[in-house]
Amino acid sequence: MRLYHAPASPFVRKVMILLHEAGAVDRVTLVPASGTPLDPGTMPVDRNPLGKIPALERDDGPTLYDSRVICRYLDETLQAGLYPASPHLWETLVLEATADGIADAAVLMRYEVFVRPGASRSPEWVEGQWAKIDRALTAIEGRWTGHLAGPVDMGQIALGAALGYLDFRHATRDWRGTRPKLAAWWAAFLQRPSMQATQPA
Ligand code: BEZ
Repeated sequence: MRLYHAPASPFVRKVMILLHEAGAVDRVTLVPASGTPLDPGTMPVDRNPLGKIPALERDDGPTLYDSRVICRYLDETLQAGLYPASPHLWETLVLEATADGIADAAVLMRYEVFVRPGASRSPEWVEGQWAKIDRALTAIEGRWTGHLAGPVDMGQIALGAALGYLDFRHATRDWRGTRPKLAAWWAAFLQRPSMQATQPA
């Protein structure tokens, strides 16, 4: 399998953490890809018409995207057990969706500052993205800490990738101050070998 990859992408990191947790990094060849909404560059637009990564070229079928589809496929193929059975599945999927929403808003904030030309940047729009992240982190602190104390699953992995991206690209935003339980979970989760091996760059 070939995975279109950039080390800074939180969505690529999600897939890479899964591969490390499953002991299956050697099953995938990494294909570097870079680009932006203004210039798709080397993004695999012929594989994913949205021009986004990660995209996973399979040996025996069409290319898969986005990260949620890829993670479900790899979890099943590798028998990784990172999605529990119903009814716990729904909590895992909602946490994964919440974490992906955090990462999505954080990437849009980054694009606004580093991709959009200066005159057309909107600080209000950036703060609107941060407000989404802020609400999601507060919801996780209030509702999810029991889930985070349980076995590692794809919800936790997606959250690890999203929080890692906040620290990587938005380090001046103090999300920890009012969320001590989430901050403690993150400090411990970051020590996992899968997290250490996939630090963004
Ligand atoms: C970044 O450099 O922040 C980035 C790179 C690829 C995808 C998303 C974000």
